[in-house]
Amino acid sequence: MPRPVEALIHPAALAHNLARARAAAPDARIWAVVKANAYGHGIERVFDGLRSADGFALLDLAEAVRVRDLGWRGPILLLEGVFEPRDLELCSRLGLWHVVHIKEQIDWLAAHKTQQPHRVFLKMNSGMNRLGFRPEVFRSAWARLDALPQVDEISLMTHFSDADGPRGVAHQVAAFEAATLDLPGERSISNSAALLRHSALRSDWVRAGILSYGSAPDFPERDITHWQLQPAMTLRSKLLATQDLQPGDTVGYGSSYRAGLAQRIGIVACGYADGYPRNCPTGTLVLVDGVRTTTVGRVSMDMLAVDLQPVPAAGVGSEVTLWGHGPRGSLLPIDDVAQAAGTIGYELMCAVAPRVPVRVALAA
Ligand SMILES: Cc1ncc(COP(=O)(O)O)c(C=O)c1O
Repeated sequence: MPRPVEALIHPAALAHNLARARAAAPDARIWAVVKANAYGHGIERVFDGLRSADGFALLDLAEAVRVRDLGWRGPILLLEGVFEPRDLELCSRLGLWHVVHIKEQIDWLAAHKTQQPHRVFLKMNSGMNRLGFRPEVFRSAWARLDALPQVDEISLMTHFSDADGPRGVAHQVAAFEAATLDLPGERSISNSAALLRHSALRSDWVRAGILSYGSAPDFPERDITHWQLQPAMTLRSKLLATQDLQPGDTVGYGSSYRAGLAQRIGIVACGYADGYPRNCPTGTLVLVDGVRTTTVGRVSMDMLAVDLQPVPAAGVGSEVTLWGHGPRGSLLPIDDVAQAAGTIGYELMCAVAPRVPVRVALAA
């Protein structure tokens, strides 16, 4: 028997979340962002749930090949563009659209021999200071691209640093609009947070990443219930053992938890070697048989401990939901666990360990 820990992927939740994105931006086309192996969910596992998207956006050329291998004939966008000149051959062969964010990528295109002119997304650095041409040189980059026979249509793109927070997007939108005012082409500016929080922005193509996977981009200000999103991943396991603590007994490495009174705890077959964060402190939310309770003591490599006081009927074999969907409609958003660990849902879903078996659920 394998250890009882497993991850479940929920296609119905993915489809639901994508429908939420459509409702938030009814006139836009949607890139389903599936970089990082679909945020840890697995490109092949999310494909069916996300196939009503208008395109798939990702980074790795190998991931683009996997999407084509699934039979997708529609748009695929390389969010960082090509990494070296010969990548352009694959773009020509598979009809990949690609971001252009540095002048070297324009040089490579100019030298590329192709019968198929490429669709490119010219990226502006409007304030994120990660990728893209600064506003003052954007227009000359556009003019160079526009003059190339290797280039078909040019779309305009930027990425927000603060769509999820108090600084907002106005300063970047102003920089983007001022530099692109009279340039033709479709715009792609919104990520999940911008799509949900700044839905009046013109973004002909929205890039829906984290919301598709059922995590709130602006947690804890808003949660998935507020945005009507559903977890696309469940991490679950079972109780391996129980312990009856006496007052003063401690739990786990470093004795970081000490029972004040007699207390029953459960030992869960899940630890940091499964991708559950070690720095989740005592008090991190967890579901046992669908009932909310908390972790106690330090997370170890293969196990963690949970308080069974709210679930007196629980015993060996009881189902434990680390995040996602629990029994009888119960729910534990990944964002709650991420916050306890001092991180974000993105990181947890990308970090489920290879040793955890992953299954696609039949129903959400
Ligand atoms: C350029 C770009 N667009 C869109 C996204 C999707 O962002 P989110 O997952 O916050 O929707 C990302 C993710 O980091 C990105 O780098």
